[in-house]
Formats: sequence, structure tokens, C-alpha cells
Amino acid sequence: MTDAPLQTSLPPVLTIDGPSGSGKGTISRHVAQRLGWHYLDSGALYRAVGISASWNDIDLSDASALVRCTFDTVIDFREDDGGEPRVIVNGVDATDELRTETAGAAASAIAAIPEVRAALKDAQRAYRRPPGLVADGRDMGTVIFPDAAIKVFLTASAEERAERRHKQLSDKGVSVTLPGLLREILARDARDANRAVAPLRPADDAVRIDTTGLSIETVVERVLALMQ
Ligand code: C5P
Repeated sequence: MTDAPLQTSLPPVLTIDGPSGSGKGTISRHVAQRLGWHYLDSGALYRAVGISASWNDIDLSDASALVRCTFDTVIDFREDDGGEPRVIVNGVDATDELRTETAGAAASAIAAIPEVRAALKDAQRAYRRPPGLVADGRDMGTVIFPDAAIKVFLTASAEERAERRHKQLSDKGVSVTLPGLLREILARDARDANRAVAPLRPADDAVRIDTTGLSIETVVERVLALMQ
């Protein structure tokens, strides 16, 4: 299933996978900060390719053009002066556009194309640098870093995930309806879980944490406790 070499000399990796809205991004960022490790938001790579395709009028059904677009897209993670993460796509700050449900849906569609996933594999593994990496996504523990020291799979009820996303978007002044968001989240879950390549599923050795009703701090502490 994997072609990753099992080398113990590589820097350690903690993988945090799960469906959209399960809190992966927030938890991973906090955990990485506490450990002083690097952080990879792998979903941002798929989202960046999705918006780069839309900027270039590439149809989401044109697999070969999307593969070319994946190789041509330059993605840079930075922090602004206030320490907030920004994602620069082909030289343009695309942070806000990346977080929209339209970008999420485009990412989910292109993420089902095996050649796009293959094209992003080495790029993701390149983030593994000392002193360690916290990587969040759908297949971090199953495909990209199968030798990760600790694997976590976060879940939460679909309703709570939709509510979290609703709050995130409302805070940014984006107006969306809760039932519409819930429908989009369920559709994306189904597509991510049922695709042929790297479907969303916990690694056999992943620790599952249901974050429904739990605070960010509680989940961060639970994840950190696994590192002991
Ligand atoms: O995590 P995020 O919601 O930003 O991911 C957007 C989409 O990118 C997901 O719905 C999924 O289809 C795809 N993705 C993936 N594998 C990853 C990360 C994201 O297929 N490792």
C-alpha cells in the first residue's frame, strides 16, 4: 500500500487525520506550537491547486490539465507580522479564498485524481524536517507518513462540524446557512471516504479521538499526552 521507506533516522512525525471540520487544523497548529515542531496543512496544498486551476479556467474534469497545474503551482506557507499563517499561491496571498467551501469542494474533486495525489506526495514528505513535523490531512497516517511515531484520527458529529465551520466563516463575515454547510460537509465526507485512492480512513494504528463537545485545550492535551 505504501512505498515509503521505513527509516528510524528520519525526524519524528505526528499525523492528525480526520474529516472536514473535525478540528484537525486548529489542534495540529497548537500541538506543533507546543512541541516546537513544523506544521503541514496538507489540505491547503489540494485547495491551492484547486484555486490555481480556477484562476486558469481549468475544468475540474480535465485530469491531465489538473496534473500539469499541480506541477506548475507554487505554494508558500508564511506568517504575517502578527504571526498569523498565510498561504501564498503563485505569488498571490490566497489565504481567505482557500478557506471557502468552494475551494474545499474543488480540492476534494481534484484530490480524487491519482496522478494529482502522486504529484503532491514528495512535496508533502519534504516538510519532514528536524526537530519534527505535525502533519494534518486525510491520508497522513495511511499513505504519506505510514511510519509516523504517533497517529491520531479526529472525529466529531457532522452537526458539530458544520456549526464550527459556520462560526469560522461568520467570524470572517462570510454568510452561509447552517443546513447548506451541513449538506456540503456530508457530500465532501462521502466523496473523501469513497474515492479509490487514499480514501479517508483511520490508519490501523491510529488513536481515535471524538472531539464532539470537547474544548480545543482538552484535545490538545490528549494529543500531547500520547507523546509521553
Ligand atoms: O483539510 P481540508 O478541508 O483543507 O482539505 C480539503 C480537501 O482536500 C479535502 O476534502 C480532501 O478531499 C482533500 N485532501 C486530501 N488529502 C489530504 C488533505 C486534503 O484528499 N491529505
